[in-house]
Amino acid sequence: MNLNIALVPGDGIGPEVLDQNVLVLNKIGEKFGHSFKYTEVDAGGIAIDKWGEPLPKKTIDICKASDSVFLAAVGGWKWDTLPGDMRPERALLGLRGELGLYANLRPATLHKSLADACPLKPELVKDGVDIMVVRELTGGMYFGEKGRKQTDMGEAAWDTEMYSVEEVKRIARSAFDIAMKRKKKLTNVDKQNVLESSRLWRSVVLEVAKEYPEVELDHLYVDNASMQLIMRPSTFDVIVTSNIFGDILSDEASQMTGSIGMLPSASLGKGSLGMYEPVHGSAPDIAGKDIANPIATILSGAMMLKYSFGLAEEANAIENSVTKVLDEGYRTADIMSEGMKKVGTKEMGRLIIDRI
Ligand code: IPM
Ligand code: MG
Repeated sequence: MNLNIALVPGDGIGPEVLDQNVLVLNKIGEKFGHSFKYTEVDAGGIAIDKWGEPLPKKTIDICKASDSVFLAAVGGWKWDTLPGDMRPERALLGLRGELGLYANLRPATLHKSLADACPLKPELVKDGVDIMVVRELTGGMYFGEKGRKQTDMGEAAWDTEMYSVEEVKRIARSAFDIAMKRKKKLTNVDKQNVLESSRLWRSVVLEVAKEYPEVELDHLYVDNASMQLIMRPSTFDVIVTSNIFGDILSDEASQMTGSIGMLPSASLGKGSLGMYEPVHGSAPDIAGKDIANPIATILSGAMMLKYSFGLAEEANAIENSVTKVLDEGYRTADIMSEGMKKVGTKEMGRLIIDRI
């Protein structure tokens, strides 16, 4: 295949973890006979510095014209005091919205050899952890009407949580489809005891469930879900939830994997164009030191091959290589434990490439 990939290195550790991913993809291209062509574009803090805005139109246009988009990380202290619309994070939300990427897949898998890095007691994870969080990504209060006004209590601000039937239907279908390819278990997470938007959400999920009689469906309120995730992580398969609840629960789930540096993600819409990014942020405190964990980024590359290009064998080659490197005891600082071999960002990349 000949594929055009837009690269968004962004800020902080973004460029250095992305470099490793490109080297991995090039190795895959060589081995399996594909050609990947990359176009680098600016978004986030670097775009604010260079172009005066977090998401220039040129970036959006190039991303839209590509076969897929790979984003490393955006944000940093330097831009933290800018108004909401000018913050680097706007680039992320803008790209998700512009590209229509409503389904965000965040798989939290605990590699056996990383059990020590997981903060939960060993008996809680002895049966393994393999959870797919399906987060709605272009609706809810991240995209709803927001504003400020004066009240008797002084200045006030609001964000609106709103979901339409169609928005819930399509994310529910994505989640059921994924559950059908896994253990056929789906947990819907909402807050329907309190929120009207959750009541509509729940009723639509129940409607869509009729199309998937083989999938075992249960429901949890988000507060309870956050507790159950810690108490019985091994019993979850697929979780479907709203934008804000998914943001929170996917960070929680990331800890089951040992480190947020392990968690990849895919953001998908109607077509094959997707955006792939590690779940972690730009970590400005460790940027440029060659200590960041590139695995979340490299595994996001594997998700791109699988979900956008249908290259399952190539994706497996990357995943197996990561498992091998971990089994051999190599660790970046975030997942380091006693007796293991500590390596930097580049060395971790090289080890993974060597085993593909
Ligand atoms: C994530 C991040 C983003 C989000 C931020 C940086 C806008 O936390 O991808 O989980 O909230 O979606
Ligand atoms: Mg988040």
